[in-house]
Amino acid sequence: MLFASFDLVSALATLAACLVSLTLLLAVSQQLWQLRWAATRDKTCKLPIPKGSMGFPLIGETFHWLLQVRRIPFPSLISLPGRWTLLRISVAELLEEALCQVSSLISAEMRAQEGVFISPLGWSGLHQGARVFSKIFSHEALESYLPKIQLVIKDTLRAWSSNPESINVYHETQKLTFRMAIRVLLGFRIPDEELNRLFEVYQQFVENVFSLPVDLPFSGYRRGIRARETLQKGLEKAIQEKLQNTQGKDYADALDILIESGKEHGKELTMQELKDGTLELIFAAYATTASASTSLIMQLLKHPRVLEKLREELRSKGILHNGCICEGSLRLDNINSLHYLDCVIKEVLRLFTPISGGYRTVLQTFELDGFQIPKGWSVMYSIRDTHDTAPVFKDVDIFDPDRFGQGRSEDKDGRFHYLPFGGGVRTCLGKHLAKLFLKALAIELASTSRFELSTRTFPKITLVPVVHPVDGLKVKFFGLDSNQNEILTGTDAMLGATV
Ligand code: HEM
Repeated sequence: MLFASFDLVSALATLAACLVSLTLLLAVSQQLWQLRWAATRDKTCKLPIPKGSMGFPLIGETFHWLLQVRRIPFPSLISLPGRWTLLRISVAELLEEALCQVSSLISAEMRAQEGVFISPLGWSGLHQGARVFSKIFSHEALESYLPKIQLVIKDTLRAWSSNPESINVYHETQKLTFRMAIRVLLGFRIPDEELNRLFEVYQQFVENVFSLPVDLPFSGYRRGIRARETLQKGLEKAIQEKLQNTQGKDYADALDILIESGKEHGKELTMQELKDGTLELIFAAYATTASASTSLIMQLLKHPRVLEKLREELRSKGILHNGCICEGSLRLDNINSLHYLDCVIKEVLRLFTPISGGYRTVLQTFELDGFQIPKGWSVMYSIRDTHDTAPVFKDVDIFDPDRFGQGRSEDKDGRFHYLPFGGGVRTCLGKHLAKLFLKALAIELASTSRFELSTRTFPKITLVPVVHPVDGLKVKFFGLDSNQNEILTGTDAMLGATV
């Protein structure tokens, strides 16, 4: 009996001692962790570093960051009206490391050292010169892509409408943007079956891009690498076919421009560079544009008045006539003259900005609102938080395209309040193409489709990896005939007559 109680007492004492030691160890390591970060302060600068939590040793604020909801609840957040919102993440080095691995899945070349203060941890091995991109996304290039984009969208809407079941909009818009990137941007003539197979592999690749960079059997990282290898084989075949078969092309696509630009600069791009380049272009275009397309469809469903106003604008500009898109009316200038459409797309991108922010490494210590941001720190600029807190926007949570309309122009003051495509040297290179695609989609939807939500309520929105509805958004599409009546039989022949 005595022994038994003695055992219990000693077990409790051992447990207490362990707990005390553990707490002490945690407290000491946390202090050391704080000191480790305080030591990164630039001694040549008198200013203090920003206040805030450095989190726990090694893991820092990772979980807090990963589980963030709409606003990033960090004390270390510095939110400055009229400037980017900067966030100090105490796992900077870990994150930086992880992002490098992410980059290595996408492109062989990483970390172009550009910019005065801030260098990108960016994905863009392709960023060999903004000049190439200014050609790829020039006015003439966009004009030549437009009929092809329209065709891809028409085909897709026709398939959606002829499906007797509701469709998963997010999944389908991913397929649509993938198709657009492959067929229009890269000009590959891949048969439908092969395209669908590549799309499946591509999805596997994207699902694993943000996995921990641990190369073990069955790990997400390994699956990502495998998917990339399969993709690259498919892309190599398509590139080779394209290089051999140049006949019948009536426009220069992005890949043609990339190849030509290499030649002009006396450096023919290797097959590896071409594969990396194409994969990167698809990656940049795919998730973001699919996210924005899904948000657009959801907002048109939620706000029938907005859809009707869009139709009115299309009619008033002679684009929509007797329920059809008038032949030849969809030119770049016509689309650019649609002000209400522009406001709708802007508002979708404000409220449902697909990319929440970007990462940068500070190259040179700088001051921000009385604090120093030391050289070497990683910084995240938050697009979502900037949109949420920008004082120029009234009723920020309300979908209101008219805020960008004449008379209000809420975005006119300060270019740092509205940045769905990022900013600075690494601003989105495909923003004009993305906007053109979204506009062409909205025009086609407004002109040739009726669509309704298949669930009782609208789904919740999740923010990771890009903004999208949790159930993908289930919608039933119906084609419209030339009198704006629904096509009931849904046969391909009849739907073909609509578009
Ligand atoms: C609605 C659609 C899109 C959105 C919201 C979007 C947004 C962004 C943002 C915020 C960045 C900067 C990330 C950072 O600061 O690190 C970016 C970069 C980039 N985007 Fe987009 N993007 C879209 C569509 C596209 C499309 C269609 C393409 C081209 C096909 C494209 C090509 C690129 C490239 C190449 C970069 C890297 C630029 C660099 O690192 O220098 N994007 N995008």
